[in-house]
Amino acid sequence: MTIAADAATLRGEIAARLTAARSRTRALTDCVDDADLTRQHSPLMSPLVWDLAHVANQEELWLLRGVGGRDPMHPEIDPLYDAFQHPRTERPALPLLPPEQARRYASDVRGRVLDLLERVSFAAGPLVDRGFVFGMIAQHEQQHDETMLATHQLRQGSAVLSAPPPRPPGDVLRLPAEVLVPGGQFTMGTSTEPWALDNERPAHEIDVLPFYLDTTPVTNAAFAEFIADGGYYERRVWSPAGWQHRQQASLTAPLFWQQGGGGQWLRRRFGVTEPVPPAEPVMHVCWYEADAYARWAGRRLPTEAEWEKAARHDPVTGRSRRYPWGDQDPTPALANLGQRHLQPAVAGSYPDGAAPSGARQLIGDVWEWTASDFLPYPGFKAWPYREYSEVFFGSDYKVLRGGAFSADQVACRGTFRNWDYPIRRQIFAGFRTARDADLA
Ligand SMILES: [Fe+2]
Repeated sequence: MTIAADAATLRGEIAARLTAARSRTRALTDCVDDADLTRQHSPLMSPLVWDLAHVANQEELWLLRGVGGRDPMHPEIDPLYDAFQHPRTERPALPLLPPEQARRYASDVRGRVLDLLERVSFAAGPLVDRGFVFGMIAQHEQQHDETMLATHQLRQGSAVLSAPPPRPPGDVLRLPAEVLVPGGQFTMGTSTEPWALDNERPAHEIDVLPFYLDTTPVTNAAFAEFIADGGYYERRVWSPAGWQHRQQASLTAPLFWQQGGGGQWLRRRFGVTEPVPPAEPVMHVCWYEADAYARWAGRRLPTEAEWEKAARHDPVTGRSRRYPWGDQDPTPALANLGQRHLQPAVAGSYPDGAAPSGARQLIGDVWEWTASDFLPYPGFKAWPYREYSEVFFGSDYKVLRGGAFSADQVACRGTFRNWDYPIRRQIFAGFRTARDADLA
């Protein structure tokens, strides 16, 4: 987000971002009945009604109590909505606020926050500097909206969500399979983006060798070739941990895929079963599957630094852009974000959003698994709380980049880092592959 310098414009932008997040939350929770809101659709996910009140509780904690100095509205419910006290599997058994009360709590908090926003001084300290903590809360709600969308994808039953499909571009057939990203230093991370989170900071120089990167994310058609070639049964293309997981979890195709008649693959998306669209980026594969595919193709996953260099480095000026296309915020012509569509666009879409290297769809469409563990940048400082990033650093998690159709622009930028376990498949993740460039 481009953040305004003057307070009045900043207030307007914050209100717009909070309101956009809330309309999405409402759209995701008003479309199902109370039984669907309180049910756990998968042990991996919270009941939707937990996300709803948790979003409001965090907003109350950070904005009303933290910034506004107000007393807790319902201190007795705080522990119920503390993600660190109760793992997702336990949440359905908690005495959660029923749907109507959760909705009322969320709208009470929001009304008070909008009052506070009118009076707050953005000069009162680092937490409110350029509206940071308000931006953090808008991002938090949008990230829960994305999680709720994943819950909808896991939910059984008829379709309740709808959106128009993305429009395909005219030139996808003429695209080269891969693009060259030149070697040398570039600036990774940011020290200036006002709403960037702690793990994206600080900006630092990093050297990357020249490499080739897929022009687009790997498609369903390409992934189906891996399946047809026996990739799931070929131990040599899997890492030892990947092979163990593949055996244990009996992985044979992406999540939500099933074999139809005549060898055709079908998949269920938001309650609709349809033939797998060949030209769309593959989704719902775990890191181990992405890693195995890359090895099968004689390639590898890009590192996080390579991904960010491909997405941000401008070889003409030598500086890093905010987004692949430049510094301006995303628009519907540049990237598929914000659940405007309920699916990724076909590989090669969004020519106007291409990076200087020619790579497309680095932002939007599908999250992209990278080869890298989730680690702090040199000079990292936990801010404003350790539980946002620091407690997750280490080799348990792999980094995903670029956002998906399910991610809102407030929670997606060239520096934004997402992370998850290498076995996760319910997230809207795909990948692209890379290879070293010949140094000769
Ligand atoms: Fe949360």
